[in-house]
Amino acid sequence: MVGPRMEYPFFFTWTAQQAAKPVEMTGGEGAWFFTSDGGRWLDLGSLSYQVNVGHGNRRIVEAIKRQADALCLSSPSAVFPAKVALAEKLLAMAGPGYSKVFFTLSGAESNENAMKIARQVSGRYKMMSRYRSYHGASLGALSLTGDWRRVPFEPGIAGVVHVPDCYCDRCPFGKTLDTCQRECATHLGEVMRLEGPRSIAAVILEPVPGANGVLVPPPEYWPLVRKACDEEGALLIADEVLTGFGRTGKPFGFQHWDVTPDIITVAKGLASGYATIGAVIVHERVAKHFDAQVLACGLTYYAHPVACAAALETLAVYEDEGLYDNATRLGPVLRREVEAVAARLPGARPMVRGLGLLVALELEAPIERWARLSKELAARRLSLHVDGKRGTAIFAPPLCIGESEMVAGVRAFGDAAALAFGEA
Ligand SMILES: Cc1ncc(COP(=O)(O)O)c(C=O)c1O
Repeated sequence: MVGPRMEYPFFFTWTAQQAAKPVEMTGGEGAWFFTSDGGRWLDLGSLSYQVNVGHGNRRIVEAIKRQADALCLSSPSAVFPAKVALAEKLLAMAGPGYSKVFFTLSGAESNENAMKIARQVSGRYKMMSRYRSYHGASLGALSLTGDWRRVPFEPGIAGVVHVPDCYCDRCPFGKTLDTCQRECATHLGEVMRLEGPRSIAAVILEPVPGANGVLVPPPEYWPLVRKACDEEGALLIADEVLTGFGRTGKPFGFQHWDVTPDIITVAKGLASGYATIGAVIVHERVAKHFDAQVLACGLTYYAHPVACAAALETLAVYEDEGLYDNATRLGPVLRREVEAVAARLPGARPMVRGLGLLVALELEAPIERWARLSKELAARRLSLHVDGKRGTAIFAPPLCIGESEMVAGVRAFGDAAALAFGEA
C-alpha cells in the first residue's frame, strides 16, 4: 500500500497539483471499486466513462493472461489471431459498408488519426466541430475540442471551425423543439459553405456530447448533418469514444438515427479500461483511397496483442451478459430517479437529459455549492462526474449495474444534493 502522502512523484491530470485528492484503488467488482482505507465506492461514473463492463471482470483478466503467455508483444505490421478477430468484430458491429480498422491507444489518438485520414483522402485541411465538445488532450484533438480545455492551447492547429451546439434546453438560436427548424444543423451547413465552397475535410461530432452535458439531439439532427456533409463533399466522423459500446443502449450512439458516418472513432469502452486501446473504423468509400496511396499513420504499439485480446473478450462480455439490453432497460429508470432528485432541488429549473445509461442533471448554483456537493458525495462513497463550472452532474454507471443498487445510489446522491443546494 502507498498510504496517504502529501506529495507524489508524478503529475495528476487536469488539476492544480495542490488540489488533487487521490484515493488509492485496490480493486473492484461490478459497479463498485475499493480503496485502501476499506472504502467501497459505488461507481456511478464508470471512472472516466470507460468501465462499461464493470470492475473486476475475471473473463477479461484471464484473456489478458492467456494472450501474455501466447504472444505478449508484436510488430505493428505483424498479424495474429486476436488482431484479425477484433477488427472483424468491430466492422461487423459498425454495420454494412465498413471495411478497415486502424488501431490506436486512446480516444485522442483515434481522433488524431481520423483527422489525418480525412485530410489525406479529401486533400483539404479544414475541420469542423462544435463548441460544447471534447475530443481528447493531444494538440490536434484539443484544437477540435470546443470546451474550455482548448483555450489555453490556442491557436492550436490551423483550420478548425467551431459551430454552435444542439443544446435544446438552451437553444443557441432562441428556439424550442416545437418552434425550431433544426437551425443547429442548417447553420452548420451554412457555415460550411461560408468557409469556402467544398473546403471542409470533415465534420467531427459526438453522437451525444457527453462530458459537456449529455446534449441529446432531436432525431432529424444527424441525418441533416449527413446531408450537409454530402452536399459539400465533407466526411462525417462520429466520435464514439464516450458513447460507444452500449453507453446509450446501442453498440454505437449514431445507431439511434438513420445515418452512416464515414469514420467512427472509439476507445474507452472498447476494452473497458482493462487495457489501453482505441480504434478508427473506416467506411469502404474512404478506406479504398489507401489501396494505392500510402496511409501516413502509425504507432509503435499499434494493435498490442494484450490490448487486442482484452478488447475482444470485452466485446464478447457485452453480448454474453446482455449489457446493451441492460443499458436500454435501466436508462429510463436512471432518468426517472434523476428527475426525482431534480424535483427536490431549488433554483432555476433543474434540467435532466439522457439516453441509455448516460444522464445529466444541470442546475444553476454558485460554485461553492457544487464544491459542497463533491464533499458530500465523497463522504457517501459515491463516484461520478460533477462539474461546478458547467453546473452538471453526469451519471454513467457500468452497464452491469443492478437496478436496486443504481436506484439506491441516485437517492443517496439526492440526499447529498439536498444538503449542498437546499430543498425546493
Ligand atoms: C468524446 C471523447 N472523445 C475523446 C476523448 C479522449 O479520450 P482519451 O482520454 O482516451 O484520449 C474523450 C475522453 O473523455 C471523450 O469523451
